[in-house]
Amino acid sequence: MNAILPEEPRRFQRSDAGLTPAMAQAFAEDGYLLVEDFMPPALCDDLQARAKQLVEDFDAEAHATVFSTTSASHARDAYFQESGDKIRFFFEEEAFDAAGRLKQPKALSINKIGHAMHDLDPVFSAFSRHPHLSALAKGLFRDPLLLQSMFIFKQPRIGGEVSWHQDSTFLTTAPLSVIGFWFALEDANVDNGGMMAIRGGHKGPLRSRFLRKNGSLVTEVLDASPYPTGPKVALNAKKGSLVVLHGLLPHWSGPNRSDRSRHAYTLHVIDGAASYGAENWLQRAADLPLRGF
Ligand code: FE2
Repeated sequence: MNAILPEEPRRFQRSDAGLTPAMAQAFAEDGYLLVEDFMPPALCDDLQARAKQLVEDFDAEAHATVFSTTSASHARDAYFQESGDKIRFFFEEEAFDAAGRLKQPKALSINKIGHAMHDLDPVFSAFSRHPHLSALAKGLFRDPLLLQSMFIFKQPRIGGEVSWHQDSTFLTTAPLSVIGFWFALEDANVDNGGMMAIRGGHKGPLRSRFLRKNGSLVTEVLDASPYPTGPKVALNAKKGSLVVLHGLLPHWSGPNRSDRSRHAYTLHVIDGAASYGAENWLQRAADLPLRGF
């Protein structure tokens, strides 16, 4: 096996100035930006505690029809499709038995929470609108709007791989504007499902779109060219680090085979000056309009 070790990313420290010229240049060249010591560890702990509480309060078995492995996929599809303006819970594959009962403790079965905690939960809102982030976002957007939030658990031993993708596939504006903000709430590295990216890969085209069509969700190929094979960069990130991801950057995260979790929080932001079409999978009710920082 010809194992080529991935590169190390450039690392920055948070600046009170927000996006510094050196950060802006690195983001433009690489398609990502790794900023260490971005969020205070105590706030990372608070967000994890809040997520744990939300999961404890969620009655999974009351939603057995959604999660039953034998139920029509319609219920599961609708549960996902309608989650853009709600706080909903998504479980690991095979977490439930045929009757919709959890096979193991709920806290160890959950894959993620999404997709509007940043507007519906006070702890998530405060984290998402922290002055450190709003200062940085000012340098990246004219009119930032917080579109989507996800708390990702990446459970010990069973946390699944997320295959190579570009975030603009899932959240598309015209012109393209989505940027992902990925917060390491725990140390993340190759052992527990840390991220990998193709440095400079954001300079290529958007390969596909995941969108609504006639009431269902489909993936359409826009450009069949493969992602570049490298240079690959291991975005190992210490607790409290922020990784900023350009919407066109190909990235991936591995399975977690280790004994520790890899909790992360992601926020996707778009520019209010760009148009966000009704074909996007994530939609909001009129009474919950998108907001900025
Ligand atoms: Fe992503």
